[in-house]
Amino acid sequence: MNILFAASELSPFAKSGGLGDVLGALPPVLKGEGHSVSAVLPLYRGLRERIPGIRATDLFLQIPMGTTVKEGRVWEAEAPGGVRLFLIEQEEYFNRAQYYGENNADYVDNAARFFFFSKAVVEMARYLDPAPEIIHVHDWQTGLVPAVVKARGLPFKTVFTIHNLAYQGSFWGIDFPLTNLPDSFFTAEGVEFYGYVNCMKAGIVLADQVTTVSPRYALEIQTEIYGCWLDRVLQEQKHKLTGILNGVDYATWNPKTDPLLPANYGPAALGGKGACRKALLESFHLKDDGAPIFAAITRLAHQKGIHLIQEIIEGLLWQDIRLVLLGSGDPAAESYFSSLAARYPGKVGVWIGFNEELSHRVTAGADFFLMPSLYEPCGLTQMYSLRYGTLPIVHETGGLADSVKDYRPDLSAATKDGTGFRFSPCSGQPFWDACQRAMALYRNKVELNRVRKLGMKEDFSWTQSAKGYETVYRRALAS
Ligand code: ADP
Ligand code: GLC
Repeated sequence: MNILFAASELSPFAKSGGLGDVLGALPPVLKGEGHSVSAVLPLYRGLRERIPGIRATDLFLQIPMGTTVKEGRVWEAEAPGGVRLFLIEQEEYFNRAQYYGENNADYVDNAARFFFFSKAVVEMARYLDPAPEIIHVHDWQTGLVPAVVKARGLPFKTVFTIHNLAYQGSFWGIDFPLTNLPDSFFTAEGVEFYGYVNCMKAGIVLADQVTTVSPRYALEIQTEIYGCWLDRVLQEQKHKLTGILNGVDYATWNPKTDPLLPANYGPAALGGKGACRKALLESFHLKDDGAPIFAAITRLAHQKGIHLIQEIIEGLLWQDIRLVLLGSGDPAAESYFSSLAARYPGKVGVWIGFNEELSHRVTAGADFFLMPSLYEPCGLTQMYSLRYGTLPIVHETGGLADSVKDYRPDLSAATKDGTGFRFSPCSGQPFWDACQRAMALYRNKVELNRVRKLGMKEDFSWTQSAKGYETVYRRALAS
């Protein structure tokens, strides 16, 4: 099959979260399976300097934006795994400091920026030779692509993947003319939702197939609690909705070979993990007296249950633990954790910001990984932690429930195959209890290492997930 991926992030060139990871990893795996795969991304500031071998093509796209026309120049480069990568240059829209906004506020012209990108993707696809059969788009930023394909009667099939239903790209109805879609698309069957242009809803309703990033989240989003007002829409479209768990790029996330770690290790020889632990404590000037290290690497966003960490952390610190947190986002949460570190010197280490290298060292050096997300479409960091022998403590939801098995030696022998700790409902007391279960296991080093090894041997490689996507692509082609 010939597949064109379109998204607003692609690791290692543009990443703010898991979306970038997925776009960096899935296309090369599909290419390896023998498909013809390319990808397209906005040409953000700095990419021209950072991407080796990037070159301008002589393809200039003329994209209508309401009553005017904006030009987009197509650049070409190579993404990981030799995937052909196109980048769309538009100075006014994409030569900015960030991808989506600054100082905790979205760019006010995000509608124009991503309507432009979605239309440019389709226009570019018309010039590709051989032409793609499938355009696989991701999240609201490319949610209008299926609508544009349908409105123009083009022969591409479209697949829309929901990575996070809460971010919908919902814009005032008065922005509709900027889509340059026929008026007949501003209806309940099209891109309109309660008077707004809703890019997420447009993708769900108009794509030939819809996927989301875990089987459990595919069910959850059809309920009122998790549906973000789109639950009824998703129920109506469930015949074309599939949940496929994300994979892990084990070439990047493998403690046996990870070049960013002070020492390497694997399930057969855990020794190096001790060295990673020691180095992590040293780098944050934390006391090394054998206390367990709890870690979090996260966007500081409401979704991630940061308030639950705040609720229980001082109680845990009183029981003598270490906390290492790497994250950025909500300014109130940033200042809370910075001041926590100042109040607990030697016990709490905090790094505010985005730091890829440190994220590997924290994942390797910690004992437990905190992920009390209110909802989690998939979540990648808990799967990275499992591979690094760092036991995840997770709210039983979405991809967290699909990837972490609960360790409950007190209940039955069957649950002894647990790889981490799950809790539900999502509130302080159950989270606290799960942390207490983790501390109890930590006191029994033989059992702790047995559980670590079980987690390290779990296999979430992309090959499995890629098979799921192949099936979905075939369904799209048959539709
Ligand atoms: P989400 O996409 O909702 O943020 P995921 O768990 O799917 O959650 O993916 C998050 C990705 O972003 C992971 O690769 C994680 O390591 C990375 N990440 C998040 N915050 C940071 C940070 N502050 N520094 C470095 N990497 C981070
Ligand atoms: C979103 C979700 C996260 C998922 C990622 C990649 O950012 O919040 O759970 O892992 O997309 O699909």
